[in-house]
Amino acid sequence: MQVGPLNHVGVAVPSIEEAAQNYRDLYGCTDITEPGEMPEQGVRYCFVNLPNSQIELIEPLGDDSPIKKFLERNPKGGQHHVCFEVEDIHVAKAAMEEKGAKVLNEPRIGAHGTLIIFVHPKDSNGVLIELMESPKAGH
Ligand code: CO
Repeated sequence: MQVGPLNHVGVAVPSIEEAAQNYRDLYGCTDITEPGEMPEQGVRYCFVNLPNSQIELIEPLGDDSPIKKFLERNPKGGQHHVCFEVEDIHVAKAAMEEKGAKVLNEPRIGAHGTLIIFVHPKDSNGVLIELMESPKAGH
């Protein structure tokens, strides 16, 4: 198993609207997606599209959002995860577990509509890693 391209960097923020405005004002980013919600994952999100990658802005949704604690520690927001594409999420999960890494969830549908898993930060120099199946052509 080998990871493919960097898909996005996840940034947790108190307000995705305010953060998106900051990307517009400070960095001139104009291609920003409409916000979406993933209630079962406890996040609102949008993507700042860059020529070679994306920034995923995520905001807590609901009281038991997994990023609520992160924002308590980092009230202004902060870099939350890095996402690499993989060919097959089940192959990737098996490979991670075989190498002794801690996979945090069963494969589930992520913000791009493909299956994702998260790998514990302790296995990657303190960085929470998201692995996502590459979107298939035509999607
Ligand atoms: Co992500």
